[in-house]
Amino acid sequence: MTDPLRLGIAGLGTVGAGVVKIVQRKANLLAMRSGRPVVITAVSARTRDKDRGVRLGEYAWEDDPVVLARRDDVDLFVELMGGSDGPAKAATEAAIAAGKDVVTANKAMLAIHGQDLAATAEAAGVALRFEAAVAGGIPVIKSLTEGLSGNEITRVMGVMNGTCNYILTRMQSAGLSYDAVFREAHELGYLEADPTLDVGGIDAGHKLALLSAIAFGTEVDFAGVQLEGIERIASADIEQAADMGFRIKLLGVAQMTGRGLEQRMSPCLVPADSPLGQLEGGTNMVVLEGDAVGQIVLRGAGAGEGPTASAVMSDVMDIARGIRVSTFGQPAGSLTRPTPAGTATPAPYYLRMALQDKPGALAKVATALGEAGVSIDRMRQYQHSHETTAPVLIVTHKTTREALDKALAGIAGTGVADGRPVAIRIEAV
Ligand code: HSE
Repeated sequence: MTDPLRLGIAGLGTVGAGVVKIVQRKANLLAMRSGRPVVITAVSARTRDKDRGVRLGEYAWEDDPVVLARRDDVDLFVELMGGSDGPAKAATEAAIAAGKDVVTANKAMLAIHGQDLAATAEAAGVALRFEAAVAGGIPVIKSLTEGLSGNEITRVMGVMNGTCNYILTRMQSAGLSYDAVFREAHELGYLEADPTLDVGGIDAGHKLALLSAIAFGTEVDFAGVQLEGIERIASADIEQAADMGFRIKLLGVAQMTGRGLEQRMSPCLVPADSPLGQLEGGTNMVVLEGDAVGQIVLRGAGAGEGPTASAVMSDVMDIARGIRVSTFGQPAGSLTRPTPAGTATPAPYYLRMALQDKPGALAKVATALGEAGVSIDRMRQYQHSHETTAPVLIVTHKTTREALDKALAGIAGTGVADGRPVAIRIEAV
């Protein structure tokens, strides 16, 4: 056997503790598979005196992750602290400068600084890998960079925030409001410390930007992701979407179009009987489409100790085996700067509105849609014994978002709709 691969782990939360457990409990398996022992030499975290359910006494302790990253007895720096800047970025940069390989689970840091960090790592001749940053235990980075490396990727889609999928599916199964399920998710500890990262689509948007870079050979462009969260989804949307054969998902879609790189993370309707439509609870799903392979669907746990530690170990084991793959699947200098598509590819839309229940109201809505060039595919008015407004649902034919916005402005101008209609894109999956 050759020299051990010596890990320095910064961040001993759920994922860090999970990695320590695998290294300790699977030592023989890891050594047999990689041909060398994989060991931990030093660790770092904010609090030292805390029971994490793992033995840490045998490792050197550093209060400062930057000092840990520079230690002579660390070959591979494992960054599991999180946060786009601050100690995570400082320690990652210190590790690269000291000639150490880096494995990180930090989607925010890579979505914002990934291009610079990848270029710096390449210039220093070290690896920077991030399997655990996207869709937890699903080996999606490896699938894209290695398994599908002979394909031109045509589209990447995914439900990549388990908390949002939990909220949306629980609203449906229990018939609860968004606020009630949000509180429940909070009590269960599912939400990030800043819940906007989850429900605002930011966490999933970071993940989509990372996948786009690999899929389309472009620099990471998180600012180019059109983001919309799930905060405005009402029980009525969930129920009526189901009634029309759809499910609502916080869906990420990335594709290269003639107008540029389209990256969207937003609530979408998908057919209830599609793999994405059937995805329940906190699970993630990533759909990859390549010109040679067609469509593949990857499904699994997007968070949690075991699944995320499993993904971290995938990168650790590649490095232990001497497998070197560029951070984004090709040299950082060869990634091109994407032009954001600006507008979304045309699609059908679901519209829900409360119409004043008086003669001619529906005709005015139909006229506003027609004048904007938006054609109606299906329409339903629900029973409404007590209200003065009637709940109306319309599914349009394929249209541009611009035409739809013109129609929505036209509907607002008629004065027959209470409030702004809800409009949700229907994605062909
Ligand atoms: N908060 C994320 C989720 C997990 O709910 O999927 C970490 O990215």
